[in-house]
Amino acid sequence: MIRQSLKFRKTITVVCVIVLVVFLILILNENKSKEIENDDANYEIEDRNFLKVPKKVFIQKEQNMDFNNANDNTQKELQEAKARIEQLEKKLAILEGRIPQKYPEVSYLGHKERKRILVTGGAGFVGSHLVDVLMVQGHEVIVVDNFFTGRKRNIEHWFGHRNFEMIHHDIVNPLYVEADEIYHLASPASPPHYMQNPVKTIKTNTLGTINMLGLARRVGAKILIASTSEVYGDPMVHPQPESYWGHVNPIGPRACYDEGKRVAETLAYSYAKQENVTVRVARIFNTYGPRMHVSDGRVVSNFVMQALQNLTITVYGNGKQTRSFCYVSDLVDGLLALMASTYSLPYGGDGRRGRRRPAEAATRHRCVFTRGLTENYRLFQRRVISEDI
Ligand SMILES: NC(=O)c1ccc[n+]([C@@H]2O[C@H](COP(=O)([O-])OP(=O)(O)OC[C@H]3O[C@@H](n4cnc5c(N)ncnc54)[C@H](O)[C@@H]3O)[C@@H](O)[C@H]2O)c1
Repeated sequence: MIRQSLKFRKTITVVCVIVLVVFLILILNENKSKEIENDDANYEIEDRNFLKVPKKVFIQKEQNMDFNNANDNTQKELQEAKARIEQLEKKLAILEGRIPQKYPEVSYLGHKERKRILVTGGAGFVGSHLVDVLMVQGHEVIVVDNFFTGRKRNIEHWFGHRNFEMIHHDIVNPLYVEADEIYHLASPASPPHYMQNPVKTIKTNTLGTINMLGLARRVGAKILIASTSEVYGDPMVHPQPESYWGHVNPIGPRACYDEGKRVAETLAYSYAKQENVTVRVARIFNTYGPRMHVSDGRVVSNFVMQALQNLTITVYGNGKQTRSFCYVSDLVDGLLALMASTYSLPYGGDGRRGRRRPAEAATRHRCVFTRGLTENYRLFQRRVISEDI
């Protein structure tokens, strides 16, 4: 019995050991297959990575290509910029060459005598001559101009001078500057110029004049308005005294200028009466001299241009019409004297004895002066037109 139970135990132990061994073997096998699976998975991942690698390389290559393109573009832009800079440097050199290294000699004025003077239309024909005189006298000059008919060339010899300032501005818009005196000259003066844009001409002479009178009132400046003999229109009286009120067509082709200047005068005296602004009004007659516009369209420039080009000189109508002429430096002297005077009524030089008066000459006689300009002088050509020039 005891032997049998021992045998039974042994058998059970052996069976258990075998089962255990089999079990262990199974477990080991399973782990191994898992490891193999993992390895396979790893390989797959690696494979996949392996597949990805060339993609990455490809993208990088694309990026490199983009970078190269960008580089090419930048190089192009750089080259263009260099070419542009070279062009600008050349232009700058030309402009610098134009600016005089030496300014015309100017007087020194103490701060009590030195005035700050605003000249509207200072880049124009008359304005630029006035600016020259004021600068040489030693004043501080501010030029305001929109360059409609004026040219920078007329005043470029003052660019950079410490007493000189240029403001590119249209006086139809308000302007805020400090000034002791204002010479208000901004307005086209010759018929082809003022007829080119009649509405603008009226605006300049009305709104522009209001702006300048308003500025004079604000800063307490004395103001001189450049008026014209055209306020007499097509006059019935010759020569015209200032007491003559004129004969003006309010809807004629010149009305934008004539009526514009008449309103400018009215505005000046309204501001004087109501706002105590000190005003001077100069009725300017035909003025001629250097810097006159070649396309001025009036008789002096027409004759000179035709004579210089050896063309037939045109005489309008019967040639007996008269004009008063004034040389530009005489006009500038007159404007300065009027501003300094106590005379507050409109002034045009009314021909009274002892007063300076612009020369008056018939058109035909003026041709004789022009004759000396050219050797191969040709005959006059008559043209009949309704409007005198
Ligand atoms: N030259 C003459 O024979 C003559 C005769 C009578 C009156 N005037 C008066 O004298 C003044 C000067 O005449 P000019 O012969 O020197 O003429 P201009 O045309 O040579 O000069 C006029 C200047 O005013 C500027 N201007 C015009 N409109 C402007 C605006 N809205 N804002 C700023 N600037 C403006 C022009 O660019 C120009 O520089 C004018 O008021 C004109 O009516 C001249």
